[in-house]
Amino acid sequence: MRNRIVGSSWKMHIDSLSEGQSLVEGLKELLTDYTDKVDLFFLPNYLLLPMVKKVLSETEIKYGVQNIASIEKGAMTGEVPVNIVSELGCTYVELGHAERRAHLGETNETVAAKVKLCEQHNLYPIICIGETKEELKAGIGDLVLKTQIEWAIKFASEDFRENIILAYEPVWAIGQSDSADKEYVIKTHRYIRDCIKELFGESLAEKIRIIYGGSVNPKSAKELSGQEDIDGLFVGRFGMKPQGMTDIVKAFIGE
Ligand code: PGA
Repeated sequence: MRNRIVGSSWKMHIDSLSEGQSLVEGLKELLTDYTDKVDLFFLPNYLLLPMVKKVLSETEIKYGVQNIASIEKGAMTGEVPVNIVSELGCTYVELGHAERRAHLGETNETVAAKVKLCEQHNLYPIICIGETKEELKAGIGDLVLKTQIEWAIKFASEDFRENIILAYEPVWAIGQSDSADKEYVIKTHRYIRDCIKELFGESLAEKIRIIYGGSVNPKSAKELSGQEDIDGLFVGRFGMKPQGMTDIVKAFIGE
């Protein structure tokens, strides 16, 4: 039985300490009581982490980061080492987001290296996978996904693999007014689970959580709730207000 999980990445939407503080305090107030029904997490930017850690300290709400460096330590100007992420009490590390793949040099290879670091530091990777519009049009969307899945999982040890969360985020559905079509999402999540089964076996396929991201809003959260292969949601813009995020969480768990 896979636990449901809903979280948000704040990307770089929040650009002041006070805004970050009121967001996390609002989320804590509205969502603390839901943690026995659904795993919850937030991914602020690094500089907000100590404050977020403090606010969430007495709750079961988890937090994490949007990226880590691909090596433990060394001459890597501007990068953030996994060890400090772990020392700050993070649970999750997002990897391979489409924006990082498109603009910041993230590749399947760097994702794989970062998954190994997560394993060494007991952090759960949330690995974003998804096809672009061009790949979809060219008929290679499924192939792109399968390749991303293989790289995301293959280099982790067999024991660790079930801790990986795959976030399916069709690139063309990010930053839009609405999520991808429900039937398309259901079909693709089934395909992703089938790929895991084919590449790594049925037992892992049953354990890995696959969550959907891409313009998630309360309406799509409701549509995607209760679907066998959709274990959770990864929220962006529509989770940047405590009430909006709460509406999404409640819609997904059917309340
Ligand atoms: P969005 O972001 O909900 O703002 O489209 C989602 C994501 O990129 O994870």
